[in-house]
Amino acid sequence: MRRLELSPRLAAIAEQVPQGARLADVGTDHAYLPAWLLLAGRISGAVATDVREGPLQRGRETARLYKVEDRMVFRCCDGLAAVEPQEADTVVIAGMGGELMARIVERAPWTRGCTLLLQPMSAQEVLRQWLVTHGYCIQRETLVREGEKFYGILTATGGESPAYTLAELWAGRQRRGEVSPHRLAYLEEQIRRRERALAGMAQGKTPPQGEMETERKRLEELRQMREEWSQWQQ
Ligand SMILES: C[S@@+](CC[C@H](N)C(=O)[O-])C[C@H]1O[C@@H](n2cnc3c(N)ncnc32)[C@H](O)[C@@H]1O
Repeated sequence: MRRLELSPRLAAIAEQVPQGARLADVGTDHAYLPAWLLLAGRISGAVATDVREGPLQRGRETARLYKVEDRMVFRCCDGLAAVEPQEADTVVIAGMGGELMARIVERAPWTRGCTLLLQPMSAQEVLRQWLVTHGYCIQRETLVREGEKFYGILTATGGESPAYTLAELWAGRQRRGEVSPHRLAYLEEQIRRRERALAGMAQGKTPPQGEMETERKRLEELRQMREEWSQWQQ
């Protein structure tokens, strides 16, 4: 049997799962993450959910292969709909869109008492905005790089949050003293993307003035963030 190894993205999530956590893994698919955590002795059990039977079946196969099926339960449901609050204190939702994640968390308000580890594939700004205006506080942002692609992991708990600027919603709040080997390259990439988006808008027949104004403001804030980050590193 091949040793179960996690991709850098999943490994960075696993690293943040507290020892002894009761884990819910939403959208588990292959169930590599809970299986790995069980093998590592980090968690004693896990509830793994998926909205589709096919992926859930893959997850069951992983659990059987690595002989952890006695400590995992699989439930076919939308988000956390079939998970009881007492079953989890740590909730992972990885590999889906930020809007869908916000909807899943919204339908499970008991997650305010949990550690949430969220790794959105898109619409990060929508997810951050939803969290900080609905009783969650983002405690930490982790950036992972796989090849050319960056993945952001948001660690959130229930609690009051400061308001976020446009750029913070877009690229995450940065904190002095933080160590992140990818932050500068990530900010550069976001700035390039927003510059291209703004140029694209300006070329249209009727440039959307309001949207462009917001984009300019975000871009300016992103550039300030880059300056601030560079200064902190000196
Ligand atoms: C790209 S896979 C991610 C697998 C794994 N979490 C990871 O990050 O590697 C996304 C999975 O989420 C599942 N999914 C999508 N919408 C869902 C929902 N509303 N509730 C539960 N699972 C969902 C899909 O069926 C799919 O198996």
